[in-house]
Amino acid sequence: MAQKRITVAIDGHSSCGKSTMAKALAKRIGYAYIDTGAMYRAVTLYCLEKGMIDGDKVNKPRLRRHMPKIEISFKVNEEGKSDTWLNGKNVEQEIRGMEVSNKVSLVSAIGFVRRAMVEQQQAMGRNKGIVMDGRDIGTVVFPDAELKVFITASAQVRAERRYKELQGKGDTTTTFDEVLANVIERDRIDSTRKESPLRQADDALLLDNSNLTIDEQNEWLYNEFLKKVK
Ligand code: DC
Repeated sequence: MAQKRITVAIDGHSSCGKSTMAKALAKRIGYAYIDTGAMYRAVTLYCLEKGMIDGDKVNKPRLRRHMPKIEISFKVNEEGKSDTWLNGKNVEQEIRGMEVSNKVSLVSAIGFVRRAMVEQQQAMGRNKGIVMDGRDIGTVVFPDAELKVFITASAQVRAERRYKELQGKGDTTTTFDEVLANVIERDRIDSTRKESPLRQADDALLLDNSNLTIDEQNEWLYNEFLKKVK
């Protein structure tokens, strides 16, 4: 009998390896993978490019008018990896930099931005067979997902991972303390915002991966997936 196709929802704190794990699972089981954080990052980049962010203020009336013009998509590149595109331009590199990271929590706290993104995400997952990661996937986007996972790790461990990643990309200006401060600040904004705050769904499995290797966490997730499709 063919395995049933399910929805896998992965939520958790920033920089705790959600996407590494989600991507690996999607590849292994032949599902589509959607990085919803990349969508909020792309909207943030759009705002920065249009000068809509001043300090910690986003020009909401202007952004609201621009929302219909913001087109976000994912395309697989030559290496077989999924890149984020914004209005016909590959923005994968730009959306991962500190400029976007420092402002994305402001943009992702805006109700009309969230509603537009959630609508697109629900359309992408309509036929199941999808692994989606974010902050509100198990609570808001797919409350009926068959497998929900909530991942966390200590702020120190998460900042170390993110710092290494930035260094690997050739960023020599950002300090470890800046990265740690960004991780802590994003946790605070993400968990206390009014619109869909980050929280573990009641039926989500909790995984603290502070002391797990990537392989260990991948195996754990794959086994949880097998339990759901058997
Ligand atoms: O996963 P990430 O760090 O790339 O996400 C970037 C930001 O977007 C993060 O600070 C919180 C926000 N986000 C969100 O509010 N809802 C999601 N489903 C995904 C991300």
